[in-house]
Amino acid sequence: MLHSWASLTGPPALPPTWALGHHHARWGFGSEEEVRRIVAGYQEHGLPLDAVHVDIDHYEAHQVFTVDKERFPKLPQLAGELRRSGVRLVSIVDPAVKAEPGVEAYDRGVAADAFVRDAAGRLVRGVVWPGEAVYPDFTDPRARKWWGRLDEERLGEGFAGFWHDMNEPVSFAAFGEATLPRSARHCLEGRGGDHREAHNVYGLAMARAGYEGLRELVPEERPFLFSRSGWAGMQRYGGTWSGDVSTGWPGLKASLSLVLGLGLCGVPYSGPDVGGFDGSPSPELYLRWFQLGSYLPLFRTHAAITAGRREPWEFGEEVLGHARVALVERRRLLPYFVTLAHLARLTGAPYVRPLWWGCPEDRALRDCEDAFLLGDSLLVAPVLESGARARTVRLPPGRWYDTVTGKAYEGPGQALVDAPLSRVPVLARAGTVLPVRGRDGALELEVWAPAKGRTGGGLVIADVGDGWERAEIERYTTRWSGRRVVVEREDGGGEGGGGVPVPVRVRGLVE
Ligand code: NOJ
Repeated sequence: MLHSWASLTGPPALPPTWALGHHHARWGFGSEEEVRRIVAGYQEHGLPLDAVHVDIDHYEAHQVFTVDKERFPKLPQLAGELRRSGVRLVSIVDPAVKAEPGVEAYDRGVAADAFVRDAAGRLVRGVVWPGEAVYPDFTDPRARKWWGRLDEERLGEGFAGFWHDMNEPVSFAAFGEATLPRSARHCLEGRGGDHREAHNVYGLAMARAGYEGLRELVPEERPFLFSRSGWAGMQRYGGTWSGDVSTGWPGLKASLSLVLGLGLCGVPYSGPDVGGFDGSPSPELYLRWFQLGSYLPLFRTHAAITAGRREPWEFGEEVLGHARVALVERRRLLPYFVTLAHLARLTGAPYVRPLWWGCPEDRALRDCEDAFLLGDSLLVAPVLESGARARTVRLPPGRWYDTVTGKAYEGPGQALVDAPLSRVPVLARAGTVLPVRGRDGALELEVWAPAKGRTGGGLVIADVGDGWERAEIERYTTRWSGRRVVVEREDGGGEGGGGVPVPVRVRGLVE
């Protein structure tokens, strides 16, 4: 079903590998020193970090495609330093352009006739962060081309990825609709129409402009962008996130429903603001959100300028230690996330799947909303309630191993599983082959023993870097042979056929 949907609306973009790691964002980092302090904090506390996102406060007077040179005087140097320590810098990009002659993006946009007009030909104005603003008409191929090239400025500042925001599009309004007037005219690919028709595709078309621009500007790299708004097909250009999810246990629950739902709608790469956007989560809520986030495709902490801190060391030693475990495990699972990203592109299957995936007739599994399958191999049962230190997990058919204790459970059915503060329950499917990063950083296969008399297997798609090289699909099978579990590569990869060219670790040998 999702395969047909993906063939209709387009295959999901493959994120660069770094985007499958951990991102830390905040509205209000405020200065280069603050960004350095955060990155140093991650390093000093032994916490893996892959990207830092800067919000509108790094703009000059909140104007897109500018930099506040007082607080961010040497952004390219900062980006270079971060890059050398393995951290990418991501920039927020808002569509609204300050409506003022002399503002470069405004002057250039007017010259390119790229902004939305009304039926009388006047520019349509709204109000957003920079004040009075105009809006590119992304439904116009010419405007998309013009806008796409503006990212050259961002690339020059050292940014490696793009976070599209406020692209419903927003115009602040005390009353009525906080967007463009319904009468605003749009090109709609030459057909012409008004904002009633263009509204829902505005974010999608902005993502297209950004993506196609980056393809031209940096043809050798896969673009990374994600967008607050979108429509069917936005996955062709990137992912999305929760928007301003509210800080509280209901917000945590909603985060999971959102990622599951989006995956079933063909948008596999998404995630919440870990910790919630507003206020201050309790240490427990922050930790449980962090643990859930570490198994979602977009794993990003983010918060509002008025909210409390979200760095893992701000919640006490215990939370810090457990957050480190989640981050280290995310990094260990990176080859699995890479495999899932490729599979999403090839088949439309999302990384995060409901428990009924593969058994759609099972009523009990269909009713289960508090756990998910991460690909074929893992079942993740996040803790979504305050004070819980154990939880019931609904199991699909087959044997499932607790990946920490090794204890085996038989599905279908329910199991009561430990969920101490230190971790959320993650179960591995018996027989599965899970690609992980070994201690030396090289690929390893973690194989979970099939139940006796059964077989298993899995697909592995190795990381081929952040370019366009075609990745090879490796198929593995697992079976018992006497008292041993045998792992074979189906296409006989490696010399001598049947060979497995990477280290294998078999787990779950309970018989
Ligand atoms: C709204 C976005 O949803 C949020 O993530 C961002 O921090 C603010 N805009 C400010 O740019």
